[in-house]
Amino acid sequence: VSDPAGRTGTRATVIRVGDAYDVVVGHGVSDRVVGLLGPGVRQVLVVRPDALASLAVPVVEQLRGVGLEVHEAAVPDNEVAKTAEVAAGLWATLGRLAFTRSDAVVAVGGGTVTDLAGFVAATWLRGVAVVHVPTTLLAMVDAAVGGKTGINTAEGKNLVGAFYEPAGVLCDLDALATLPTADLVAGLAEVVKAGFIADPVILDLVEADPAGATRWDGPHTRELIERAITVKAEVVAQDLTESWLREILNYGHTLGHAVEQAEGYRRRHGEAVAIGMTFAAELGARSGRLGVDVVERHRSVLSSVGLPTSYPGGSFEQLLAVMRRDKKSRGALLRFVVLEGIGRPVRLEGPDEAWLRDAFEAIST
Ligand SMILES: NC(=O)c1ccc[n+]([C@@H]2O[C@H](COP(=O)([O-])OP(=O)(O)OC[C@H]3O[C@@H](n4cnc5c(N)ncnc54)[C@H](O)[C@@H]3O)[C@@H](O)[C@H]2O)c1
Ligand SMILES: [Zn+2]
Repeated sequence: VSDPAGRTGTRATVIRVGDAYDVVVGHGVSDRVVGLLGPGVRQVLVVRPDALASLAVPVVEQLRGVGLEVHEAAVPDNEVAKTAEVAAGLWATLGRLAFTRSDAVVAVGGGTVTDLAGFVAATWLRGVAVVHVPTTLLAMVDAAVGGKTGINTAEGKNLVGAFYEPAGVLCDLDALATLPTADLVAGLAEVVKAGFIADPVILDLVEADPAGATRWDGPHTRELIERAITVKAEVVAQDLTESWLREILNYGHTLGHAVEQAEGYRRRHGEAVAIGMTFAAELGARSGRLGVDVVERHRSVLSSVGLPTSYPGGSFEQLLAVMRRDKKSRGALLRFVVLEGIGRPVRLEGPDEAWLRDAFEAIST
């Protein structure tokens, strides 16, 4: 992992994802959206929910300022935006505007908006440019980077989609000022995940000032976000689809997804992932790979920012059944990412059911 720390004195940090696109990170950096779009664009469709219209204003102004023809499309807020109906509505808008290959989509919002708008951009004319402007911490460090786009269907979440790389990603940290603390904290779970799988400095920075880490303007918040994006960027640049390396990003997600599903998606994703990481750490210890000190560090780091590390009252049998059905566990064998140490993820395939039961027991109280 490269060290972005030396660059934080500047207004904008640029993290390159392979040779494909840039992620610009900083405070008040909306003027950079034009550069990310690239030359030759004539029309832009800015996709955002009405609830976030004010966050789209600086972006829209920048685009109009350089003479682009800018249209705005309102989509529903939250997960309900990720449907075939909403995607079809956007396709209709693009058709009405006679959108061509040289026009572009800009997505302003959380991961639901970047997933939806990315998918629509991937499919219109088999692909028009999209710039993501994520406004949640989860979307900045995860959803907007890596090229996965998609929508939900009656059959399940994210079952329809495309790998489609954006033209660029703009993370204006000022947008996080209005994000509820609980959502910021949930996003921190993915930041901490990046720390455990690849960049221990992230863990040091959270430990140095846990309360600061839960604030959008905390002393280390920008560096934490830059480091987490750098981890994801380096992984996805080497692994564009879903083979082993990219799988390390699923640390904590096998049980996390099962918890989310068992609870009907009423819990924040990051909270489920925090529980899942604690479970994965316990599983790593049960399988003889991880020391108890690192297991305890999972608990201390996650709980210091207010994330859950236990799952009292859950049914192991139910979660096991859900995990066996999970598309990510592929085939008959259950598959987990566990650590052999900080920054040393490995795959654990078909673990002993006794280890799973013991690890679950350890997070049940
Ligand atoms: N493509 C990927 O690789 C990937 C990775 C992780 C998650 N995801 C997807 O991301 C989605 C979750 O993203 P999310 O957590 O950002 O949820 P979200 O998009 O639903 O946003 C959560 C809520 O926060 C509000 N909000 C957003 N920005 C705000 C701001 N700056 N101030 C105040 N309120 C704001 C939204 O209006 C919404 O109500 C899921 O659909 C998930 O599948 C995709
Ligand atoms: Zn996640």
